[in-house]
Amino acid sequence: MKKDYIFTPGPTPVPLDVGMAQVNMVHHRSGDFGEILRRVLDGLKYVYRTKNDVFIFASSGTGAMEAAVANCFSPGDKVIVFSGGKFGERFVDISRFFGLDVLVSEYEWGTCANPEVLSRQLRANPDTKGVMLTHSETSTGVVNDVEAFGQIVAQTPALFIVDAISSLGAIEFETDAWNVDVAISGSQKGLMTPPGLSFVAVSDKAWKAVESSKLPRYYFCFKSAKKSQSKEIPETPYTPAITLIQAVDVALARIREEGLEKIYERHEVFGKATRAAVRALGLELFAKDNSRANICTSVVSPEGINSGELVKFMRNKFGVFISGGQAKLKGKIFRLAHVGYFDRFDIISQISALEFGLGNFGYEFEPGSGVSACMKVLMESEV
Ligand SMILES: Cc1ncc(COP(=O)(O)O)c(C=O)c1O
Repeated sequence: MKKDYIFTPGPTPVPLDVGMAQVNMVHHRSGDFGEILRRVLDGLKYVYRTKNDVFIFASSGTGAMEAAVANCFSPGDKVIVFSGGKFGERFVDISRFFGLDVLVSEYEWGTCANPEVLSRQLRANPDTKGVMLTHSETSTGVVNDVEAFGQIVAQTPALFIVDAISSLGAIEFETDAWNVDVAISGSQKGLMTPPGLSFVAVSDKAWKAVESSKLPRYYFCFKSAKKSQSKEIPETPYTPAITLIQAVDVALARIREEGLEKIYERHEVFGKATRAAVRALGLELFAKDNSRANICTSVVSPEGINSGELVKFMRNKFGVFISGGQAKLKGKIFRLAHVGYFDRFDIISQISALEFGLGNFGYEFEPGSGVSACMKVLMESEV
């Protein structure tokens, strides 16, 4: 007998009532759906901590990254893109694809982006139209200091565009207070919903850029989304992913019920518990600055063990899905997730499955030492 456990940083586990909300089909040009959409947009504003317009697209998170670029800029506009992992690289790719003048600000994978570097780069490039940063760089586990970056960008005419795809609804994220002009997210991480919805929160400063932007877009158009949403009964311009919107409606109600503060605390404790387990097992954390790394814990695979093989073994033998390394980290690291619908028993199960996996590959450690260290942290907390 084997059960499946999704312990990846996206897609993440989906609560039963969220999944079940997709069973009923309503028509998207009905008052009933309008009410759901209105509630979802309000719920998203609550999670985003914003008064800005929020739009929903039927795509994975990457669609909203593309939308941010296509709606805010014109060909040749200069942007500074911070890249220290696979998802920073994606912002570079999209920006280049759309013909922007891209200044890539690389930082070492596993470290955080440095706000002082941004200050220097903005001083040297006063014509910068946008700054892109990944909040939680899921490929390395690192979480960047969006607040510090936002303070710097806000003093310039540039827009601050943040990929909050794996962080929104899980760890602290303040769209308005941190001066984020376009905040991007997706359904399948902190929002505990199946993949297929992407979200953007767009500030007034960004709207001015949208008005003059000359890049082509058709489906991913903020202006058409705003026009449809502004109707008495809100709508989307095209057929929305109706059942996913019903699902995220239930997920957002859950988030409101638990409350953001409690959710942030839960993620913090689970991050701490997982890091304690990793250290107790004598393993090395990949993220050097991991004080905020509460979405997923990246771990250097022990000498002689290919992380891909370890991940495959845990999946095939126990049905436990953890993630391996991506791009240049393939085979070198594995990632333990704790984002979204995780409880303390998921955290313990994940560590125990890891111990079984490591044991299979001959790694020497005291069985139960990871679980024990993790439980000690959990027992000190109420979450
Ligand atoms: C930080 C970050 N950015 C972008 C993406 C890409 O999102 P999607 O796969 O939903 O297109 C992901 C997904 O893992 C992510 O974690």
